[in-house]
Order: sequence, then structure tokens, then C-alpha cells
Amino acid sequence: MKVLVKRTSGFQEFEVPRQPSQTVLDAVTYIQRELDPTLAYRFACRVGMCGSCAMTVNGAPRWTCRTHVDKVAGRGSLKIEPLRNFPVVRDLVTDMTVFFDKWEKAKGKFAGGRTRKNEFSRVNPASTARVQVDAGIECIGCAVCYAACDVVAWNPEYLGPAALNRAWTLVNDERDAAGAERLRAVAGDAGCHACHTHLSCTERCPKRISPTAAISGLKREVLSALRKNEL
Ligand code: SF4
Ligand code: SF4
Ligand code: FES
Repeated sequence: MKVLVKRTSGFQEFEVPRQPSQTVLDAVTYIQRELDPTLAYRFACRVGMCGSCAMTVNGAPRWTCRTHVDKVAGRGSLKIEPLRNFPVVRDLVTDMTVFFDKWEKAKGKFAGGRTRKNEFSRVNPASTARVQVDAGIECIGCAVCYAACDVVAWNPEYLGPAALNRAWTLVNDERDAAGAERLRAVAGDAGCHACHTHLSCTERCPKRISPTAAISGLKREVLSALRKNEL
């Protein structure tokens, strides 16, 4: 199989043998171990949990450890590039700093209001808020959605789908105490209202999360808080 890999210096072509159940990450690993040890790429768990192996594969962002070559190779070739919307450190490795800084800006950290002296919170698993939390909580921070988002490409300040999805899970977490502070963090020009509802993030998310739905929820919540003069 022909594999075209984006290196820091330009594209380089490799010949990789096809294997049963071979993933794209297997193909990249074969290149690094057998053909060119200088190839830089990133992975950790190989089982779809850590979110570190995302790359652009034949034009679309994907988690490479769970993407089978059979599914994406088409007529038998692969083109592998680093994730879009990030600066490249080397070859297929991107600098994710901006992605995690935006989680911080969107107040993506749980802000508890209790101490160890309080009773445990009891959250009804069937409540509407809990259902909203469950819908977005399995995010693995792979940045596939962020790479797929055209608004991020146009406006580098935009907080992006993953950080906003995280903010929405916390807005719905009844144990969280950040309240209006978090809504203010996502209400600005670079926040939820900048989303054009393109749905690319939702189409691409490997965990089947819908950041688009989360962002719509944030838009509604921000407007409702504004109407009540709570922001
Ligand atoms: S729905 Fe919004 S966040 Fe998702 S890709 Fe489109 S513009 Fe970006
Ligand atoms: S929302 Fe989905 S695509 Fe985006 S970072 Fe989380 S798991 Fe990855
Ligand atoms: S290597 Fe961990 S998600 Fe792919």
C-alpha cells in the first residue's frame, strides 16, 4: 500500500504491507519502526481512550488507533497529515497548547461548592440535566472536532467545539458552583454564539458526541440568563 506522509520538509512516500485488521496507527508505526525512525508522531493508549493519536487521514481528521485502513484506504492508498488548526511541532506532531488553553478559558474545570464534611451529592440519573451531562462527558480530548471546525480556521480565538461541549456538561452538573461565571466565559465574541452550526464537529467526533447540540444549549442558556439580568 502506498502511504504519503506529511513531513516537516514536505510529503514523503512509503510502501507499507497490508495486514488484516490493520489500523492507520499501525501503518504509521510500521513506517517509524521499519522504514524511517526519524518520523515523529504521537500516540499512547492504542485503544481509543487517551485522545493523542488524531491525524488527518485522506483529508479528514480521525483517531488513527481505531480507524481501520480497510475503511479509509479507498483504492489502496493513504495520505496522512497532522491535524488541521494547530501549529506543527514536527512531522505529524502538533502543538495542542491552544486547545487546552481554551478549555481553561471556557472554565472547563469542575468548580465544586462542597467540602469533605458535606454529604455526598445525590444526582438523579434520570434527570434532564444528568442526561445532558452523560451526552458529552465521554470526550477524550482528541481535538478531532476542533480540527474539523471551519470557524476555528477563520477565527483562531473561537473557543471551539470541545471546550464548549465541556462547558455545557458543567453547566448541567448540579454539583458545580461556577454558574454565571462559566456562562460569562462562553458568552463573548469567541464563544458559543460564534458557532455557525456547520455540524462538522458532530459528524467527525469518534465518541459520537454532539458538540453542536451542546453549543445550542449554551446559546439558549446564555440568552435566558441575559433576559433575567443574571450575566
Ligand atoms: S457546529 Fe459549530 S463548533 Fe461544530 S464544526 Fe460547526 S461551527 Fe464548529
Ligand atoms: S468532542 Fe469528540 S471529537 Fe471533540 S475532543 Fe471530544 S471526543 Fe474528540
Ligand atoms: S492512541 Fe489513545 S486514542 Fe488513539
